[in-house]
Order: sequence, then structure tokens, then C-alpha cells
Amino acid sequence: MIVSSTQADPSKDSATNTDALQNSPFLRACRREPVPYTPVWLMRQAGRYMPEYRAVRERTTFLELCKRPELAAEVTVTAAKRLGVDAAIIFADILLILEPMNLDLEFAKGEGPVIHNPVRSSEDIEALREVEDISALDYVYEAIRQTRYALPRDLPLIGFAGAPFTLASYMIEGGASKNYIHTKRLMYTDEAAWHEMMRKIARSLPRYLNAQIAAGAQAVQLFDSWVGSLSTHDYRRYVLPHTRAVIESITPGVPVIHFGTGTATLLEAMREAGGDVLGLDWRISLDEGWRRLGQDKAVMGNLDPIALFTDRDFVRRETKRILNEAGERNGHIFNLGHGILPETPVDNVLALVDAVHELSARR
Ligand code: CP3
Repeated sequence: MIVSSTQADPSKDSATNTDALQNSPFLRACRREPVPYTPVWLMRQAGRYMPEYRAVRERTTFLELCKRPELAAEVTVTAAKRLGVDAAIIFADILLILEPMNLDLEFAKGEGPVIHNPVRSSEDIEALREVEDISALDYVYEAIRQTRYALPRDLPLIGFAGAPFTLASYMIEGGASKNYIHTKRLMYTDEAAWHEMMRKIARSLPRYLNAQIAAGAQAVQLFDSWVGSLSTHDYRRYVLPHTRAVIESITPGVPVIHFGTGTATLLEAMREAGGDVLGLDWRISLDEGWRRLGQDKAVMGNLDPIALFTDRDFVRRETKRILNEAGERNGHIFNLGHGILPETPVDNVLALVDAVHELSARR
């Protein structure tokens, strides 16, 4: 799909187009306004579970796919249209920002992400580059422009980035981790160096996210996927101020979704860090999580991704249970508690989207 980037300039949008977007169920729910039905989208909705994605992916590596705006836009738009979801999320990765920060990133086949020069010492932290010139990530903004142009005019597009803790954990561990030994050891034994690293990340992120907004994203999500590995004490001391600094610097009026997993014990602290919408995973009930966050927040979640490995009837039953927990409150965005897994049957994903729309329709 080739589209002209000049035509996709969001500043040239007509007023009606902006109204249609701002009145979409997804953005209304972000603002806790009444909606005709509960909006739904799915983390990793463009991914390997989908044959259309695998077909594009056969021709390129994952990083190349991220760096070719016309392909990134194509997989973003295809997934959103195929599923009939209420928001698209730009196809990219939380780790792309590592490259302009001087880290050597590779997505190794079958292994997931590998950082060949992980951050382990205070010298490494000094060598870590704060992203001042965000043009290194121009390909992401171009993908957003092309996607915005190709999407239905009333379908919101979500931009995203990793949150400081989750990004730091990849930079320090050099990849995925189970126990975060290097990360926590640095945090515990050299607090000044830890905060210096977190500041470099936290100053880079708003520039990146605000550039995504300027290119055409209507909301942004901060993924703090692995923050659930921390105690509340450690979260408050080592992470909260940095996440808060990022969220406070996001373009005013643009909803921020603050997402993590395993956060049942952290919700109050995450609320303090900020965000208009807080993500909940399935380990806490939507009702309890929402009560703990307070009714002045919107919530996103929280179906267990494994529920999609059953059948339509079970998917429908679970959907109904979660919608009942949300009840008549405004501000629920339906999602999984974490990303769709590669082996997920597409039919069950389609059944989920239908079930959310049907069972939540307000008469
Ligand atoms: O949601 C979407 O559809 C948008 C695209 C998106 C991807 N990654 C594409 C991707 C988003 C929002 C992400 C975020 C991301 N990336 C997170 C936070 C979300 C979460 O799951 O907690 C994290 C931790 C990463 C880092 C990352 N990227 C890992 C650990 C992996 C390997 C895991 C795997 O499934 O292979 C990736 C690769 C990745 N990012 C894939 C996709 C579709 C699979 C790559 C492939 O096609 O082989």
C-alpha cells in the first residue's frame, strides 16, 4: 500500500473528521463518557496468529517490517479491519527506541529480542544516549501518517512506547528475563546510576510519544509489561517518579493508557504515576481493580489471553462476566490482560469482538 504522506497530514483534517474521531466509542470511553457499546481492541492484534500478518512477515524480518512504513501501515490497517475492533495500534515495538540510545538490538529467530551490548556498569549508563533528536525514529511517524490516511476516518489510532522500568529491564538484562537479577542489582546497589539511567529514558520518551501524536495518533499507551516484578516499595522509590515525569509531559488532551501486568498490588501507586486509562490483567477482577483505582479513572482489560484457546461459547461467557463486572460505569475499554499469543485461533478472536459489541449494546 503506497500512500502520499502529504495527504496524510492530520493538521489538514477537516473539523468533521476530528469530530468523528473524538466521538468514537474508544475515545469517549477514554474520557469516561457514555458509549453506545463497549469499545474493544487487542494488544498485539497485528501479530503471528493472523495469516495476513504471517504472509507479510514471510517477506521481511521483524525489524525491517517495523522500518518500512508502507508495510507497517498495511499490517496495522489489515488487522484492525479484519477484526472489526474500535481502535488500531501502530505496528512497531517498544524496543525500537533502544537503537537511537546506542544499543545494538536484534530480534533473533525463535529467541525474541537480544541486546548485544547490555547496560551493566555506570560507564555503560554514561554511554547510553538520551534521545534528543527524535528523527532517528522517523519511520514510526511516517507509518503513523500512512496508517492514519488509510484507516476509516472515525477509527482512532494508538501510538505507544515502553515505560521506563520495562525498557530499562531489557537494556540491562539484554533480553527477556525471569528474575531481573541484573536490573534489581543495579537498582539496589547503585541507586544514583539507576536514576540517571531512568532519567535518560524518561526524558527521551515524551519526545517520541509526542512526535507520534503530531503524526496522527489519537491516544498513546505506555507498556510497563514487567513492572509486576517489583514490590510496592521498590516501585515507588525507583520507578514511579520517572513514569510520572513521562506521563506529565504528554501533549495535553491526548489520553494516556498506563498498562502493566501482575500489578494487583501496585494499582494505587500506578494511579499516582498517572494515566487516564489503567490496564488491568486477569489476575485481579475488573471490579476490584477498578474500585481500587477509583471511579475517576477509565480501565482497560481484562480477559485472560488463554481464554481464546477454548471455543465461542466459553469466550462469550467470559466476555459477559467481565462486562457485568464493569456494569453501568462509563470508561471501560475491553481488551485482553496481555497480548494475543501467536497460536491463538483467529475465529475465537472474531467471536470475542462480536461478543463484546453484542452483549454491551445499550438499547
Ligand atoms: O499490539 C500490536 O499489534 C502492535 C505491535 C506491538 C508489537 N510489540 C509487535 C511485535 C506492540 C504494541 C509491541 C509491544 C511490545 N514489544 C511489548 C509490550 C507488550 C507486551 O507484550 O508486554 C514488549 C515486551 C515487546 C518486546 C518484544 N517484541 C518481545 C518480547 C518480542 C518477542 C516475543 C514474540 O512474540 O516473539 C517482540 C517481537 C514482536 N513485537 C512481535 C510482534 C508482532 C513478533 C515478531 C515476529 O513477527 O516474529
